[in-house]
Amino acid sequence: MLALSSVTDEEQRCEDVSARVMRAIHEHRLGEVAGEWLADGAPALSDADRRLLESAHQACADIHEQLVVEGQAMAERLRASNVPCTFDSSTAVPRHPQYHELTLDIGAEHLATASQVAAAVGYWHPLLDDTRAWAELPHTRTSVVLKRPDDRMTRIALRWRRAPGVVARLRSGLNRLRQRLLPGGAPQPSERSLGGFIGTPRPLLPELFAFANLTRDDVLLDLGCGDGRVLVEAAERIGCRGLGLENDPRIQTLAAAAVAGRGLEELVEIELADANSAPLPEATVIFLFVPAAAIASYVPTFLKRARPGTRLLVHEQDPIVCTPASDKSAPLIVGSAMTVAHLWIA
Ligand SMILES: C[S@@+](CC[C@H](N)C(=O)[O-])C[C@H]1O[C@@H](n2cnc3c(N)ncnc32)[C@H](O)[C@@H]1O
Repeated sequence: MLALSSVTDEEQRCEDVSARVMRAIHEHRLGEVAGEWLADGAPALSDADRRLLESAHQACADIHEQLVVEGQAMAERLRASNVPCTFDSSTAVPRHPQYHELTLDIGAEHLATASQVAAAVGYWHPLLDDTRAWAELPHTRTSVVLKRPDDRMTRIALRWRRAPGVVARLRSGLNRLRQRLLPGGAPQPSERSLGGFIGTPRPLLPELFAFANLTRDDVLLDLGCGDGRVLVEAAERIGCRGLGLENDPRIQTLAAAAVAGRGLEELVEIELADANSAPLPEATVIFLFVPAAAIASYVPTFLKRARPGTRLLVHEQDPIVCTPASDKSAPLIVGSAMTVAHLWIA
């Protein structure tokens, strides 16, 4: 009897630590919360819980350090191209970052040069190739985020001071309206939008596969597969078959090239398709790393449509408000990457 109740207490305590870590990730306060907890002496912690908190605290510190190094290097590159840029880590980098994004202040008149400098080292934005749209940005916004599809998925926000003028705001509003009304115009953002490309940080992938108990007998479907990193890693590490749907032709080309580059065409297929209208292919595991609102909208539909036993593997730092609740959820922290993983079983 005694033994039983102590097991229950232990399980309950572990759950509490894991739940508090997930909540801290959701609130984007993990570094701060873990630091306070550890500084407090964390008296009642088991070794495993202490290790979880230490890795959380260390992950945020590592991301901070990596961003400072990257920010200094970028500021130097910009100055070398005559873009005035002073790097101040206290404003460029959050104190306890949970992912790799830094902000650099530039003058609006330097946006074109600054984005070329960033593009030369692998940063990218979907509008970069559209010279006219890019030239409009300083009039319609005060910042733009460029992403680099590296292992960490580093992002740089270029920010400028000029507030959008009234005329420019009107012009840009009219442009957006025209695009929506024209046949084939820009898609409306909706709760089913899978968002823009942000790759799952690569160090998290083995943990995510273990969390879903992925085996070589599985067929993995990545909806909005980005550069194909999830499917490539699963095929190489686990040996399972994979199918990726991606609706952005440029990104789909990246994914197809990654698959061909590893000689994985036999195992992995990448299709240029809209995940909202394509039939749901046969899969034993469906992977989703998309905005929380889309997850909340997709999961109930998939649970109805998928064959019984299909696992839905989802991860996201933001909270997911979804019915039914996941069958299991856990914080995953590997090196300088972190997320909250969720699994539903149809
Ligand atoms: C956040 S990324 C995730 C990439 C990849 N699954 C990963 O975890 O590394 C979401 C991807 O979905 C794609 N996407 C957005 N809407 C889509 C749609 N309706 N159909 C197919 N892909 C879509 C985007 O272009 C982007 O590459």
